[in-house]
Amino acid sequence: MKAFASDNYSGVHPAIMEALHRANTEHMGSYGSDPVTDRAVKKFRDYFGNDIEVFFVYNGTGANVLALNAATQSFNSIICSDLAHINVDESTAPEKFTGCKLVTLPTIDGKIYPEQVEHRIQRMGDQHHPQAKVISISQSTEYSTVYSVEEVKALSVVAKKYNLYLHMDGARISNAAVSLGKSFHEFTVDAGVDILSFGGTKNGMMFGEAVIFFNRDLARYFYFQRKQGMQLHSKMRFISAQFEALLSNDLWKRNAEHSNRMAKLLEHGLRQIPQIKITQQVDGNGVFAIIPKKITEALQEEMYFYVWNEHTNECRLMCSFDSKEEEIANFIRKAKQLLEA
Ligand SMILES: Cc1ncc(COP(=O)(O)O)c(C=O)c1O
Repeated sequence: MKAFASDNYSGVHPAIMEALHRANTEHMGSYGSDPVTDRAVKKFRDYFGNDIEVFFVYNGTGANVLALNAATQSFNSIICSDLAHINVDESTAPEKFTGCKLVTLPTIDGKIYPEQVEHRIQRMGDQHHPQAKVISISQSTEYSTVYSVEEVKALSVVAKKYNLYLHMDGARISNAAVSLGKSFHEFTVDAGVDILSFGGTKNGMMFGEAVIFFNRDLARYFYFQRKQGMQLHSKMRFISAQFEALLSNDLWKRNAEHSNRMAKLLEHGLRQIPQIKITQQVDGNGVFAIIPKKITEALQEEMYFYVWNEHTNECRLMCSFDSKEEEIANFIRKAKQLLEA
């Protein structure tokens, strides 16, 4: 079954699978005391510079929650979009684990903007009020749109003005980098991001994400916090081996280029169908479209996808590193057939 449901529906890229096999030949130190982890961390330093701390965790929720936890105390608040994964798809893990209040801002394109954010930073120093401490953005966003370097920088200016930290949920950071045509460094370190959740799973890995601190002070207790947060993998080398492979030979880039290109192809095909309305700019690997209700179920049988908004019937179609041109062509053909029937 091939699907547009999620980039998590896809399997594991063969080069990642080979890396797992290679890491499986002998005994090695556990909990990250192994040469594969050293090499994977070095790969991250090649991209982000030496002035970083890198920690591997199991999943994106763990990366986000632990990153936010490292930057806050329980009387703080975290500002994010109302669509943010941390707000709508991590149950109440961020609130439970950090104790913080999530302050959500309405978004129409998945992004949040400086004026909006600044408006919600209020009553700083007032003991009665949750004290804002982090601005969290997703890159690419839940709507598959991408912040420009300038947009990230502008948010970091607000963060600095009020002594807040800027967190980036980069579950799909590779798709953002490819879309922008920029290095990771340019829209993270150079743009004033303090902490990054770097995604691997959605771009061809089996599991594993990284928490990267550009603000190294915030990493001070992270070894303990990761363990406390149950995200310390004993056989760490199996996360590290995957990252080493993902960050070698431009695999991250090739995978993201492919999935972004497939999304563009899908967008192009769907735009030829007058009854279907594309609702968001297609920057990354997802297409959002209002599809007539009467054909949704039959179309889902061709390649499954989620209805994102039950009221408008806006649907989310995600492409993966292994999506194929002919699958997209079939899907578009089927949509046309169903509408003509
Ligand atoms: C924006 C975003 N952040 C983080 C995640 C990671 O979630 P998980 O905990 O399922 O790995 C996802 C996955 O859907 C996501 O879309």
